[in-house]
Amino acid sequence: MIDLKDKVAVVTGSARGIGKSIVLRLAAAGADVVVSDIDLSGAEQTTAEVKALGRRSLAVRSDISQLADAEALIEKAVSEMGRIDILVNNAGITRDNLLLRMDEKEWDSVIAVNLKGTFNGIKAATRVMMKQRSGKIINMASVVGVMGNAGQANYAASKAGVIGLTKSAAKELGSRNIQVNAVAPGYIETDMTKGLPEAAKEAFMTIIPLKRPGTAQDVADIVLFLSSSLADYVTGQVIHVDGGMVM
Ligand SMILES: NC(=O)c1ccc[n+]([C@@H]2O[C@H](COP(=O)([O-])OP(=O)(O)OC[C@H]3O[C@@H](n4cnc5c(N)ncnc54)[C@H](O)[C@@H]3O)[C@@H](O)[C@H]2O)c1
Repeated sequence: MIDLKDKVAVVTGSARGIGKSIVLRLAAAGADVVVSDIDLSGAEQTTAEVKALGRRSLAVRSDISQLADAEALIEKAVSEMGRIDILVNNAGITRDNLLLRMDEKEWDSVIAVNLKGTFNGIKAATRVMMKQRSGKIINMASVVGVMGNAGQANYAASKAGVIGLTKSAAKELGSRNIQVNAVAPGYIETDMTKGLPEAAKEAFMTIIPLKRPGTAQDVADIVLFLSSSLADYVTGQVIHVDGGMVM
């Protein structure tokens, strides 16, 4: 039984989708959770659901691609909740296009949110965790960062970057008892993937041994494990939650 009572978590991009499932999973295990997103009303809705579980919660509007926003988020979390035990860098976007058609804005925006946003979160929270001499950081990567994907060069590069960042941070922060891991989801049914063409969804099914798409809950369960003391001796790892798509 995982018990996160008295732990404080910050989850970015948690107004909906995988981030929201992570928030509710951590709260159900006893954690107080800071919900952060560019969508404040969605974040407030998530917060209301956490409070309904009897936990403390706070909604903060924060554009994680901006270091100043990330720092303000962490400051607010510490001043209102007292500490930060778990940081989940989940916020992410796609701007798909073939390389030849991809414009600079599509490239820059995906790198800014997915990769720099993860750096910003780590940079802002690390000082607090170092003082506490404990912390768990979980970064949202993707199978696409491992295997590449036509039409997603920007996204694949950002997620491959997240994996390199995760391993480097794990090496730098291990001596302070801070574990840094990445989760690499495969094809998960959320708002991000609902616009995929039917042919693309069918193509996924042919390469997923478990023969079903993943759910946000499937991802949240692994994040819960990595957030807990059960994972105290696990760092620098990339855990695939993909029904066996990549092995
Ligand atoms: N859905 C999948 O199949 C899949 C697969 C692999 C990885 N992922 C990753 O999982 C994470 C969550 O994906 P999802 O499917 O729940 O997506 P989603 O689009 O449903 O949710 C993403 C959330 O991030 C927020 N966000 C966007 N830009 C932001 C910014 N600059 N600052 C703060 N918040 C911001 C959005 O408002 C939204 O609430 C992403 O990092 C994504 O890349 C998803």
